[in-house]
Amino acid sequence: MKRFLSFVATVLLFAGCQHPGTEPGDTEMDTYISDLMSKMTTQEKIGQLNLVTPGGGILTGSVVSTDVEQKIKTGQVGGIFGVYGPEKTRQAQRLAVEESRLGIPMIFGSDVIHGYKTTFPLPIGLSCTWDMELIKQTASVAAKEATADGIFWNFSPMVDVSRDPRWGRISEGAGEDPFLGSEIAKAMVEGYQQKDLRDPTTMLATVKHFALYGAPEAGRDYNTVDMSHLRMFNDYFPPYKAAIEAGVGSVMTSFNDVDGVPASGNKWLLTTILRDMWGFDGFVVSDYTSVNEMIAHGLGDLQQVSAMALKAGLDMDMVGEGFLTTLTQSLEEGMVSEEDINKACRRILEAKYKLGLFQDPYLYFNADRPATDILTPVHRQLARQAAARSMVLLKNDEQLLPLKKSGTVALVGPLVDSRNNMLGTWAPTGEARYAVTVLEGFNNVLGDQVKILHAKGANICNDPDFAKKINVFGPKIFIDERSPEAMLKEAISLARRADVIIAVVGEATEMSGESSSRTDISLPMSQKKLLRELEKTGRPLVVVNMSGRPMAIGEEVELADALLQMWHAGIEGGNALADVLFGDYNPSGKLTATFPVNVGQVPIYYSIRNTGRPQGSDEFQKFKSNYLDAPNSPLFPFGYGLSYTSFEYKDLILDKPTLTNLDEIKVSVSVTNSGDYDGEEVVQLYVRDMVASITPPMRLLKGFNKVFIPKGDTKEVTFTIRAQDLAFYHPDLSFYAEPGEFKVFVGGNSNASLSASFTLE
Ligand code: NOJ
Repeated sequence: MKRFLSFVATVLLFAGCQHPGTEPGDTEMDTYISDLMSKMTTQEKIGQLNLVTPGGGILTGSVVSTDVEQKIKTGQVGGIFGVYGPEKTRQAQRLAVEESRLGIPMIFGSDVIHGYKTTFPLPIGLSCTWDMELIKQTASVAAKEATADGIFWNFSPMVDVSRDPRWGRISEGAGEDPFLGSEIAKAMVEGYQQKDLRDPTTMLATVKHFALYGAPEAGRDYNTVDMSHLRMFNDYFPPYKAAIEAGVGSVMTSFNDVDGVPASGNKWLLTTILRDMWGFDGFVVSDYTSVNEMIAHGLGDLQQVSAMALKAGLDMDMVGEGFLTTLTQSLEEGMVSEEDINKACRRILEAKYKLGLFQDPYLYFNADRPATDILTPVHRQLARQAAARSMVLLKNDEQLLPLKKSGTVALVGPLVDSRNNMLGTWAPTGEARYAVTVLEGFNNVLGDQVKILHAKGANICNDPDFAKKINVFGPKIFIDERSPEAMLKEAISLARRADVIIAVVGEATEMSGESSSRTDISLPMSQKKLLRELEKTGRPLVVVNMSGRPMAIGEEVELADALLQMWHAGIEGGNALADVLFGDYNPSGKLTATFPVNVGQVPIYYSIRNTGRPQGSDEFQKFKSNYLDAPNSPLFPFGYGLSYTSFEYKDLILDKPTLTNLDEIKVSVSVTNSGDYDGEEVVQLYVRDMVASITPPMRLLKGFNKVFIPKGDTKEVTFTIRAQDLAFYHPDLSFYAEPGEFKVFVGGNSNASLSASFTLE
């Protein structure tokens, strides 16, 4: 109990702590920065808080910085993003270092979300690998490539927990679970930053979007977030905290408000939680013009909102220049203090110091590196592995998959030969021209062994107005000149000549991502019609769903004999899909966000709390918590995913019946590969607190282990549970586990039924 009390005490000690980074100490860095700051004018200090983008790349707001060159020369820019390549970045840095009064180098940022030029699967896809080593490797490859191109500050990882597939940015995160999300946050920060930020192949990471951006009301992007503190602390905050514990260098605020205060001006979030409670000592950057957007939120004019943001704990202002243009006046009028400006300026200079920029401002601008470090065969190989491992097999009737490398295949659907839709949303540094399409991947992997018949069969959607909204960053939905009927006819006649049909359907890349919320998360009607007709041919039908979000694909599950969730799989997606469907890789992905039956079930997630009128089965019961028109169960639960082989779980053993605060319980289980293929299984451990002082979730993920088991073999998989793993936040925000009975479930998805119990004393 003692251990918990001391932890509670730390948690409750919100105010009054000192933090490295805000209070200069006597380290070399502090001395250097104090010395530098003593030479800076207030205007130059404010200049460090200004982040600009000169435009040219993909913009995520309507404003672009102007007069950038002049501003750099006059010390009005601390960081820049949207400039790429060692020559260009060196040129820009030269303006700061050689032409501004104090020669303070700038920090160069970008959104490197799922790879730089070697584009990996969407983050939601990567999360389905449940493979922390692989995820870490993808982050370190991204850092190596980005730094080769002069970018050393990353606006990633995005760790927003989301339980709402209407929200388009669910694609950018790790799904619904705080435990898995925390592990992934840590792996990504470690992958980007490694051990030494001065190593020119590593980059400073940014955890975003702080906070709770993944829970906007109605799933509409940027919308209000309103949730209980219990839910924040137990379900949504852990991945941000994990990134901070892993040493992330910066934090980006979110667009939404929290408890009525926009995150960029929310002192409770940016100071009380982030600094006082979690001890974060890096710097905080706003999202794109999010300070200015506080005006529209209704918090005052630009001067008021900028002062509020600075005082709340925001250090750097992205693009909006509210800090640059109003803080001097606010200082004169007493709305902010010199100390507020100093704190923010010091944190940004510290990041530059840690990156080694004061030793060598041109450290990251090596003109030889792009040729050797970007898009290497090794990186592409990793992308292929990651893509194959991110795919989730959702149905495989009568072991239709893997397919034999012989006979004739009809490869049908609008995403078969669609290079622009391979990379996935928010790959601003990736280039579609390097992507392998599904058709190309099939040809690469199958050569002459299989006859491939190809037809588009349908448009992604037939509505030109909808297509226009999706095509803002280039053509993603291409509406064919032929009529839908003609396309369908061609596809059906091909399908009739094939031994098996593979239909690749789903979303265009920009149907998910920022500002791409949907109220209908089913397949567009054009593609539904195609699948209905294909099914009628009586040929075995494999459906591949390429999307950036969980979709309501109940009808497609019925139509298909086999169904694979592919996500947007990145640069090697086409090769990886062929690897999976033809058995060169046995799928091992598991869902990290629940697939709903329909949008009406949203928000939907596995770690639900019981109501006072729980529903035992999916059969409707009057006066129970259920729906008249849909089951409570999802289409596919969290953690779900099949393999070409089968795994049997038995002998769940706990090494002791009781746990104290001082020891741990070992949980072991035997997993047998009882099928015909070697394979990997993600063994998952869930825990249920049977009685607690607040309604406990029915089960919570507390461990996972991805193991390779050759066919016919059995492996013993073990987990340890300590009392602190059972702790949760209470209404007063104290964090401890409550004694009593706990039930453990182990298996291959969140419905795992093998269980055992223990008591926490
Ligand atoms: C807005 C997005 O919300 C954020 O994730 C991104 O880092 C910035 N734009 C910069 O591109």
